[in-house]
Amino acid sequence: MTKPRLALIGTGGTIAGATSAASVSTDYQPASLSLAAVVDTVPELRQRYDIEVTQPMQLASYDVRPEHWLDLHAAVMKAVHNPDVVGIVVTHGTDTLEETATFLHLSVDTHKPIVVVGAMRPATAYSADGPANLLDACSVAACPGAQGRGTLVVMNGRIHSGLWVGKRHVSSVEAFDSPLAGAVGEVADQAVQWFRAAARAPTVAWQTPASWPRVDIAVAYAGVDETAMRAFVAAGAQGIVHAGLGNANTPTAYRAFIQSLPTQGVLVARCARFITGSVTRASVYADAQHGILTAGPLPPHKVRIVMLLGLAHGMDGPAIQAWIDQILLTA
Ligand code: SIN
Repeated sequence: MTKPRLALIGTGGTIAGATSAASVSTDYQPASLSLAAVVDTVPELRQRYDIEVTQPMQLASYDVRPEHWLDLHAAVMKAVHNPDVVGIVVTHGTDTLEETATFLHLSVDTHKPIVVVGAMRPATAYSADGPANLLDACSVAACPGAQGRGTLVVMNGRIHSGLWVGKRHVSSVEAFDSPLAGAVGEVADQAVQWFRAAARAPTVAWQTPASWPRVDIAVAYAGVDETAMRAFVAAGAQGIVHAGLGNANTPTAYRAFIQSLPTQGVLVARCARFITGSVTRASVYADAQHGILTAGPLPPHKVRIVMLLGLAHGMDGPAIQAWIDQILLTA
């Protein structure tokens, strides 16, 4: 019987990490083993699937930058265009896994499943969760029901939308959650169960950007002033995400400053810091009148990715707002 062909793309992270002793699970070096070596620790992978492995980068995900996403995008597109490949699995560090998954979800237009997977415990620890997560990710990538769902994240037996998922714990193997949307499915012993019909967000009409615009995040707190925002503008920011208080509230003292930024050519989005919930378009802020984006339930680092992609593709504020509104409807 022909085995399903899967493209496995390695980027590093804890799933490829090595400890000094097997009893150690939080003090280790990520990105120490090649993906090929990690695959060899799970013999069932090659028994079940026709596996091709590429490794465009090898780093801890706290070192991942938007420039790395361009290399990853190219590697993913190569697999997308290979008619023999039915699914794609990207191994990644967990610290910025949700950012890379969001980037791919919003920039790769394909019906083929793309599954991003990591591990909370290094490969050489007694408690390593990478082998099971990798097998689960391949089960999902090979599953016909995974088609048309955009980029998914598989961790600890749960399947999440790449858009909604976030890392919620620093060390637990049950670190990933989609607080508002919930998991889209589960996988156990290679059996995949879906909780929702397939749906995916509209992607940007991808053109590889020559460079990324600068988009920063300014976090609000009691007593915050304009210092950080002014520094970002001075550094050349084309966009700033205002991670506001509560329902993305802006301290009164610097509201006028934020509202003046779009007139200086700096796009601003209002979203909530650290908490979940859909930020509403409060009339008190008159966001649309000031050219300020409202990002609903997207957290600051994901809003930043939408702005990076939108600005890099020549979209203006209203076009990015319209895209956000569509993303929120369909993801
Ligand atoms: C990293 O993000 O590369 C380190 C942490 C991890 O993968 O869990």
